[in-house]
Amino acid sequence: MAGLINFAHRGASAYCPENTMAAFVRGIELGANGIETDVQMTADGQLVLIHDELLARTTGSPKLVKDATLEEIKRLDAGSWFDPQFKGERVPTLAELLELVCGTGVQVNLELKNGVVLYPELEEAVIAEVRRYGLTEQVIISSFNHYSLVKCKLLAPEIRTGILYGEGLYEPWDYAGRVRADALHAFYYAVIPEWVEQAAARGIVYHPYTVNDAATMRRLVGMGVAGIITDYPDRLAAVLSEA
Ligand code: G3P
Ligand code: CA
Repeated sequence: MAGLINFAHRGASAYCPENTMAAFVRGIELGANGIETDVQMTADGQLVLIHDELLARTTGSPKLVKDATLEEIKRLDAGSWFDPQFKGERVPTLAELLELVCGTGVQVNLELKNGVVLYPELEEAVIAEVRRYGLTEQVIISSFNHYSLVKCKLLAPEIRTGILYGEGLYEPWDYAGRVRADALHAFYYAVIPEWVEQAAARGIVYHPYTVNDAATMRRLVGMGVAGIITDYPDRLAAVLSEA
């Protein structure tokens, strides 16, 4: 389907260490025209791309992201845990990813990780960085923290927002309207054809997550979703090239 956004989840995270420049580059090489990533803030107010609030799983450091400076974080190896061939990969800054996609048209889905740790003025900082790179039309901000999405829309009406949720929203287009969101980032199990249609009629699109098998990808493409978030952008590219 033309126009569907193939979002590489944390980059091509099936093949490379998640949320590293290697994963983002590989995702684009494998056919992604979108990158999904997770944004957090360091102790000195810098924006970094990492999923967990704790640095331990992907870097071995016992610290929380919020308690480490960018300089400390940049010294950590974010690749070896996945495979020794990626030794030396670093936790990227948001600026590094925005530089990568500048001029490419690749969409960026920035998930604000502000559910467990509440970073002061994370929304302001992310919006300022996106505007600095002139990428407001290439970015969509998503979060499980829907208050944060309302705040983003008030601060930057020109940037799209996507509501992240599991199965728990009934007729979610009404809720999306109240949150002033543009997209529904639903767990894929919660996506049904009638609702995709109902949402589309109100200008709200679905970007389900995290879809890794071709059969489910085909089913969702058939429903008319606008994007799919996957660890395997190559599999989705293959599905989209069928027929
Ligand atoms: O964007 C969907 C997905 O990234 C949300 O879950 O835990 O992988 O950040 P998680
Ligand atoms: Ca995420």
